[in-house]
Amino acid sequence: MHTNPEKIAQIINFPFIPDERGNLTFIESDNHIPFTFKRAYWIYDVPGGELRGGHAYHKLEEVIIALSGSFDVVVDNGRNKERFSLNRSYVGLYIPKMVWRQLENFSTNSVCLILASRPYEEADYIRDYSTFKNIQIDGLQL
Ligand code: TYD
Repeated sequence: MHTNPEKIAQIINFPFIPDERGNLTFIESDNHIPFTFKRAYWIYDVPGGELRGGHAYHKLEEVIIALSGSFDVVVDNGRNKERFSLNRSYVGLYIPKMVWRQLENFSTNSVCLILASRPYEEADYIRDYSTFKNIQIDGLQL
């Protein structure tokens, strides 16, 4: 999979094997997503109106998939923002490092699967938006 550095985040269509017995989708590390995944986690039982995310990562890349139900992902690279509505289990959203993301509008019983390029490291999080903006501005000045 080729990534476009101009884009804040990118939709990926995974292989889709339709079958009368039930459909099937699969993901191979490095093939269908642009990194080797080291970790998977999922968010579920989200109460109505709750938000998840609200941070960026220094190094981590992720792919977010609505395995069930639907939700929105708002991504922000410090200059532009974009909203993606995810509602198909064969579609993922690739988010590069240094992108602020917020997940919202979770439908009842939605399940959000996230494939991540690194193990969990709290030190990799940027949880303060003004810190994120300052790092982006400093990066542009380099
Ligand atoms: P966090 O990443 O802040 O949640 P969100 O998906 O809404 O951004 O994680 C919430 C808590 O869970 C935090 O205390 C750290 C813990 N956590 C882990 O221990 N391992 C993980 O892989 C993840 C994603 C979170």
